Amino acid sequence: MPSPDLALSTRDFDFLSGLVYDRSRICLGPEKQPLVAGRLARHLRSLGCVGFADYCARLATPAGRNEIDVVIDLITTNHTHFFREREHFECLSRQLLPTLAARASSAGRPLRIWSAAAASGEEPYSLAIALAEFARSQPLPDWRVYASDISRRMVDRCRLGIYEAAKVELPSADLLPRYFRRGFGPREGYYRIKPEVRRSVTVEAANLFQKTYPVPANLDVVFCRNVMIYFDAASRTQLVSRLFEQLAPGGYLVIGHAESLLGLQHRFRQIRPSVFIRPA
Ligand SMILES: C[S@@+](CC[C@H](N)C(=O)[O-])C[C@H]1O[C@@H](n2cnc3c(N)ncnc32)[C@H](O)[C@@H]1O
Repeated sequence: MPSPDLALSTRDFDFLSGLVYDRSRICLGPEKQPLVAGRLARHLRSLGCVGFADYCARLATPAGRNEIDVVIDLITTNHTHFFREREHFECLSRQLLPTLAARASSAGRPLRIWSAAAASGEEPYSLAIALAEFARSQPLPDWRVYASDISRRMVDRCRLGIYEAAKVELPSADLLPRYFRRGFGPREGYYRIKPEVRRSVTVEAANLFQKTYPVPANLDVVFCRNVMIYFDAASRTQLVSRLFEQLAPGGYLVIGHAESLLGLQHRFRQIRPSVFIRPA
């Protein structure tokens, strides 16, 4: 809990939530005021700020412009885990990959999947593992996974690819020795994604609302899961249209199970509750 001298007034909260919205489109409703105060309190103290009014004044100056990235880093919810919403990975391997692999092969290009809100990397590495597993039994052209997130802290963790052993839960036991290295000494209790898997994943910081994305056009699949819930309908509509353009005709958009495109104007065709195709 923030100390009384770090109480966040409604005025300062409105200022902060406005900046966060402008930069990330994340909507912070009034119910998020205590959460924002709690998550920023320690940071304010480390800067020597006497209170939120002081901090907001700093943010309002040109020198404070980059500070908004720190706010976003601190307020984003980065919860994720390996093979989260496992049906999506099953759908990818059984239903989507056979066709996408054949199409990429005949076009003479690599197969490309983007994890567009990758958090600490469990999603893109699960995708890389799913692709590597597919390639063990079926033809697959060269492939690459792209991973991005607005949070620089998450991007760094994603690049590192080190995870607490207790949190590495995989669909089958043989995946662990195949794709992870066990930590020893100071890294006891942790696993690291093997270098060859890490090399197949390109990790960049990216805001879903920036002008251009650091990923190629004509993507085969975009996983954009459990992030749209933070955006309002206008932002979701804009995002879904951008993702449509980023996909190859016949490419797929996968969203979180708790998310939906209902009520949004879009050009996708739904093939499963949270899987959509850009018609060819
Ligand atoms: C709950 S995690 C989802 C992780 C993963 N996709 C999954 O489903 O397990 C949401 C992520 O979205 C990121 N995020 C929020 N707003 C974003 C934006 N405007 N652009 C890019 N990433 C964003 C957050 O930093 C956070 O890491």
